[in-house]
Amino acid sequence: MSFIKESENYLKDVINKCGYEIDDVTLESSSRRDLGEFQINVAMPLAKKYGKNPLEIAKEIVSSIDNRFTNINIAGPGFINLTINDDFLIENINLAIDNFDVLIDKEEEKTIIIDYGGANAAKELHVGHMRPANIGESLKRLAKLLGNKVIGDVHLGDLGRQSGMVISEIKRRKPDLCYFDPNYKGKYPKLEITPYELSVYYPAASNACKEDEERLEEVRNITALVEEGKEPYISMWKDIVEVSANEIKRVYDYLNCNFDLWEGELSSLNYIEPTLEILKPYMYESNGAMVIDVKKDDDKVEIPPLIVIKNNGASIYATRDLATIYSRVKNYNPDEIWYIADIRQSMYFKQVFRASYKSGLVRKDVKLAHYYNGTMNGKDGKPYKTRDGGVLSLNSLLKQIEEELNKKMDKFDNDEEKRNILDKLIVSAVKFADLLPYRSTDYIFDIEKFCSFDGKTGPYILYTMVRIKSILKKQNIEKYEIKSIYSETEKNIYIKLIELSKILKNSYNEKTLSYICEYLFDICSLFNKFYAETNILNEKDDDKRNTYLSMLKLIYNTCEKLLDILAIEIPDRM
Ligand code: ARG
Repeated sequence: MSFIKESENYLKDVINKCGYEIDDVTLESSSRRDLGEFQINVAMPLAKKYGKNPLEIAKEIVSSIDNRFTNINIAGPGFINLTINDDFLIENINLAIDNFDVLIDKEEEKTIIIDYGGANAAKELHVGHMRPANIGESLKRLAKLLGNKVIGDVHLGDLGRQSGMVISEIKRRKPDLCYFDPNYKGKYPKLEITPYELSVYYPAASNACKEDEERLEEVRNITALVEEGKEPYISMWKDIVEVSANEIKRVYDYLNCNFDLWEGELSSLNYIEPTLEILKPYMYESNGAMVIDVKKDDDKVEIPPLIVIKNNGASIYATRDLATIYSRVKNYNPDEIWYIADIRQSMYFKQVFRASYKSGLVRKDVKLAHYYNGTMNGKDGKPYKTRDGGVLSLNSLLKQIEEELNKKMDKFDNDEEKRNILDKLIVSAVKFADLLPYRSTDYIFDIEKFCSFDGKTGPYILYTMVRIKSILKKQNIEKYEIKSIYSETEKNIYIKLIELSKILKNSYNEKTLSYICEYLFDICSLFNKFYAETNILNEKDDDKRNTYLSMLKLIYNTCEKLLDILAIEIPDRM
């Protein structure tokens, strides 16, 4: 349990013993450090409840608090200011050097499935795919750290128009393949297709369809055959998806986004039948399609019925999400399913969730939630585009970041080492920039800013970590122990460290990594201030020097854990 939580429990106990019933006490960080590091605001609500004078209650409480707090004073109508006793703080902070768990509070264990990434097979990953992947990955790591059982699923978009596009293009370019021979009688072989061919075929077909109605019709027909599971198309498409998924995985791996499951729309087809069986009593026909009403009386906006089966009898995106929910419930019995996808899908998810609850596809106590992400925009405030107005591929974005960071890597002559450090820097730059803004807010793409070694950036954090690491390496300490607090900055660092539990809680509750990024920046800035003020290694007093190094160790261990949540790795040097 965290120090903060423990102190809150202690204060609750004190208040109860004074004869006042109270559910929770929150230790708020104070902005007026001169008055106290923390503040509790309980006297006013208790005064109301018990019909007493708040000052009186505050005085009673204050006189019962033991010496773990000092400088206890009452401000205004009854705010209680508290400062942590140094010895008590040191005692607690020492526990945290090797045990991160004393800085955090675990959640009640739940099984959570996170649906994130959302790449589409046969299409290149573009910049829009980065944020849901980064946020989902970090929320997964955070939820795990807090004690949940978490399963990440990429939910590939591996059905749809792109299947018809790619196969029609293969037909054009390699008409002699046996798949296109109506008289072919043998067993169909595995389709050979390279990642390069794939990257060319989809855009070629997509362009051709823009001007050619007949071609588009062909694409539609092939797509329908794939979706109906007709051979050889379905097998061809599965072979294409396999090659494409490998390419997609490479980019996600590079960003340290690792999925437990590589399921998708295609794999959900196995569950369509039992899903429709459950939905059947709630579906009705509308213009030839089968739909479910999902509106409610108190809706402020019109929520249209969800189409479950198209008028040609085929399944669609929604059918596959419903079938995926069915399979997740059946296979994992989750308490919660989180969807990380951008805001444009909000209405869609609302419809799908309502249809799921209404039909009993999921129990009412299973939480289905869409935690939407804001987008990365250009300077014009619109989703980022290339100079010619196209969508930027994720690979090209990473290349641009690489070019910028490469300018700062002159001092390295060992190519292998340089590559390794550069990769870690690139990942830190894009991920930190992507996770720093509040989850649902947009942000502006600015390579120079993201790659700077100063300010709220990944490279700044890594630079600080490497600095600490190299100091620690120069010293051999048997037992890390903080003996005393020698300066204001040190005290501020310790207070910051014990506040971590609150940061993680807020991040988890609001499903945003922004608080963790800001916190990392604050800790690094405090450390750099300390570093400028202090001659750490040349300190002659052993106790002092050991204390400094122990504090560095604690900062390093804590930040390493937090960077691991962000899926950012620390290089050995920079
Ligand atoms: N592939 C989808 C897209 O590109 C995102 C998938 C989101 N997840 C889901 N279960 N529908 O828009």
